[in-house]
Amino acid sequence: MELFEAMRARSSVREYRDEPIPPGKIAALQQAALLAPTSLNLQEQKFYFITDRSVLNRITEGMIEVSRQREEWDYLERLAQRDGKALFGAPLLIVIAVNSKNNYIDVDAGIAAQNITLAAKALGLDSVIMAAPDRVFGGERGEEYAALIGIPEGYRFAISVAVGYGARPFPPHDLKPGNILSV
Ligand SMILES: Cc1cc2nc3c(=O)[nH]c(=O)nc-3n(C[C@H](O)[C@H](O)[C@H](O)COP(=O)(O)O)c2cc1C
Repeated sequence: MELFEAMRARSSVREYRDEPIPPGKIAALQQAALLAPTSLNLQEQKFYFITDRSVLNRITEGMIEVSRQREEWDYLERLAQRDGKALFGAPLLIVIAVNSKNNYIDVDAGIAAQNITLAAKALGLDSVIMAAPDRVFGGERGEEYAALIGIPEGYRFAISVAVGYGARPFPPHDLKPGNILSV
């Protein structure tokens, strides 16, 4: 799929089929992550490709637990409507962790996340960028969850991307052409 076609077709998909992603497509997503530019070309970000159901389940349960502790009733209500699937049933969650001592780390991680989402679309997959797992990785028990997937000391969760085959179409967002200003 051509780049602009992928950009136009991409949307955040929040319901996935229970279908694994073939290894070749996972390898292509890994390439997309590594191809992302980084400030000063430091490339000090790590990409955790999580497909292990038990790990995905633990993250899901942790997100629900933290939301209860934080009394995020609206979020919990939305989760209840989709059977507690905090990761939308996606078979793959890519966690991007960054070296906390560097500058522009969240920009770097965002660029990599977008590389991944566009590559996913071009590969016939769907995705959604997710800050929500920060509830576990950035929460009180963050160290436990960092250890669960192997995030080393000095690195922290920046953003994640859930990937899989969408169960139904989710329309792309409306554009705001007024946000483009010619000077
Ligand atoms: C930095 C960032 C964090 C996001 N975190 C979440 C999230 O935690 N959960 C979620 O459902 N969507 C999340 N999204 C998806 C946005 O809600 C979505 O991109 C936006 O509504 C526009 O819709 P579109 O992606 O379909 O164009 C996030 C997007 C970005 C860029």
